[in-house]
Amino acid sequence: GRPVRVALLGCGVVGSQVARLLQEQAGDLAARVGAPVELVGIAVRRLGLARDVDLPEELFTLDAHALVTRDDVDVVVEVIGGIEPARSLILAALEHGASVVSANKALLAEDGSTLFAAAEKAGRDLYYEAAVAGAIPILRPLRESLAGDQVTRVLGIVNGTTNFILDRMDSSGAGFDEALQEAQDLGYAEADPTADVEGFDAAAKAAILASLAFHTRVTAADVHREGIAEVTASDVASAAEMGCVVKLLAICAVQEGPDGPAVSARVHPAMIPRSHPLASVREAYNAVFVESQAAGQLMFYGPGAGGSPTASAVMGDLVTVARNRLADVRGAGESSYADLPVLDMGST
Ligand code: HSE
Repeated sequence: GRPVRVALLGCGVVGSQVARLLQEQAGDLAARVGAPVELVGIAVRRLGLARDVDLPEELFTLDAHALVTRDDVDVVVEVIGGIEPARSLILAALEHGASVVSANKALLAEDGSTLFAAAEKAGRDLYYEAAVAGAIPILRPLRESLAGDQVTRVLGIVNGTTNFILDRMDSSGAGFDEALQEAQDLGYAEADPTADVEGFDAAAKAAILASLAFHTRVTAADVHREGIAEVTASDVASAAEMGCVVKLLAICAVQEGPDGPAVSARVHPAMIPRSHPLASVREAYNAVFVESQAAGQLMFYGPGAGGSPTASAVMGDLVTVARNRLADVRGAGESSYADLPVLDMGST
């Protein structure tokens, strides 16, 4: 069949791994999609940099807008992160008829509804499995597999950097700075580690999880947030004496508010007993523990950060979006919101 043409925005930690997989898995991808998947361009901020993958120099461009509005581009993969220019580029891509795969938790959590409306209007797919918990399939399970159940609570370890830091403090008594440096060297941390340490990254993911789990709209600003900067070695040691471990948890729940059901979402350090499944999540791994009426308890576990694991989730979305394109259908949309009120957790 005709090839599915892909434009890549960003060639950093994640983007370079997406480009690598597109090259190395070309044969399998073509078989799974039903047509060749062809990388036609990569927009970057600077040309001529050494990348983690060998790519022909002529694929690279500085003009991201021209790339996403090319008539022959079927799918735009956005892995640059941040609000702008990512939002304008995604909107331009959708308006121009491309489907979009994004790993951008900050943007989805701040302004997802603008993107969903644009995708709806364009009749195109917008998939973002990689935005939460890296390689772990969790968004499609919440949106699709559990769509016939009632999810009541989601507990997540959704930031690899802070889990790595807290785990090092627990297991080897390492200092905060040393553990953070190690996490950064391993490629887990955001360029600015404040987003990890202060809980902004986890809060964005909590907003996305709560929105999908409860079929409503929760933004990052709705999430009560406290990071791990105040957690000391002695806090970790006293938790250990009580048989507990300190984890940065994202906690999303549906509960009775003053006027009926309401949603709450918060991120803060929490002591959990070593016997709880979430306590066994070590290093930069992530896990999302889901409680629902019919299924009971489920846990999704795996690598939540890093180039190759995150690229795995991007590639899964890319295969689905490419298949939908060839079949001329749209995937699971975001149109059926109940708009539940969000409880103000700041006061509790
Ligand atoms: N900095 C993030 C983390 C990367 O440590 O989990 C994945 O979003």
